[in-house]
Amino acid sequence: MSVRRLAPADQQPQSFKFTPKSLEVVKFWMGKYPEARKRSAVIPLLWVVQKQEGWVSEPAIQLIAEMLEMPVIRVLEVATFYTMFHLHPVGKNVFQVCGTTPCMLRGANDLKAACKKHMGPKDTVSKDGLFTWQEVECLGACANAPMVQINDYYYEDLTVESLEKLIADLKAGKKPKPGPYVKRFNSAPEGGEKTLLDPALYDGHLGKPAKTLPNAPTTGKSKKEKA
Ligand code: FES
Repeated sequence: MSVRRLAPADQQPQSFKFTPKSLEVVKFWMGKYPEARKRSAVIPLLWVVQKQEGWVSEPAIQLIAEMLEMPVIRVLEVATFYTMFHLHPVGKNVFQVCGTTPCMLRGANDLKAACKKHMGPKDTVSKDGLFTWQEVECLGACANAPMVQINDYYYEDLTVESLEKLIADLKAGKKPKPGPYVKRFNSAPEGGEKTLLDPALYDGHLGKPAKTLPNAPTTGKSKKEKA
């Protein structure tokens, strides 16, 4: 992972203000913590900033530090540590392409090439302002490799063709359905059940319901005590 720095001064806004709607969410989060522990709300507040602006700017970090009465450097540390916070302006749709080994073996390099072709270099905003793509580490959906997180949702089992269709749909203002892009339910096997179907391995009977659980607490006397 590269060093995470704030956007250069010429990209920073002069100031930052929460909208009234965001302020409601801020109040909700700050209300969850006792006054002496209010700095615990730092991550939710950074998240509210990102939801409002698309990224986290320096004036926003300063405002959060002021609201939570904590040193600016502490907020900065949190914002630069967690890769979920965008520290530079981003496009409307942020593609986080997993490049870790399982996704890489299943075609992530081709997906990255397709992103570059359609959106431009990584970590930049496309000319139409609609896209930014980044390479990220494992997003925990390796069973559905290769996959991409677009804004808040996972799009899985992708090919270059399905990824290009996603880009085209987003350009057209559509909301593509998240989840696997092959015929399977979540991470279940493609084409339906595949385990224990071989009669040589499993006779097909269903287990009988257990009358008592093996570790259930005993209520009466033990066999030894009854004897
Ligand atoms: S390696 Fe891509 S989600 Fe885990």
